[in-house]
Amino acid sequence: MEHRKMLAAAVAAVMLGVAGPARADAKRIELPADGLQLKPSTLPGYAKAQANCVACHSAEYMAYQPPTAARPYWEAMVKRMKAVFKAPVDEADMPAIVDYLVKTYGNEQAP
Ligand code: HEC
Repeated sequence: MEHRKMLAAAVAAVMLGVAGPARADAKRIELPADGLQLKPSTLPGYAKAQANCVACHSAEYMAYQPPTAARPYWEAMVKRMKAVFKAPVDEADMPAIVDYLVKTYGNEQAP
């Protein structure tokens, strides 16, 4: 998130820089690819994770977790997102989200 803010500030600064009256040619700015999607799944937690987990960051953060990460690791992760970053996750949705995460990115992935 902080990274995004800094990026936005940098982009704004560059745009201000090129927006002078003499510069008609707008500078093209290539943003880094940061749009990794959650892996689709038939698990009910997939839709809930889509709704609750990719508002602040892309699915890259999930994809970069160790595939050996077990269920308690993902539980702690979801709780941390809620407690520390105020992710708007419903208490009732947590088990399904954790189930999706551990089976998609953690140590319960189908072989
Ligand atoms: C309100 C914003 C927000 C929402 C919503 C959110 N996160 Fe995050 N998440 C963050 C921020 C900020 C970081 C980076 C902070 C850090 O590095 O500790 C992060 C980091 C992560 C990481 C990287 C590992 C780590 O410890 O930093 C994972 C995995 C992750 N989030 C998973 C999730 C999951 C799963 C959900 C849904 C339950 C979720 N996030 C919802 C803000 C959010």
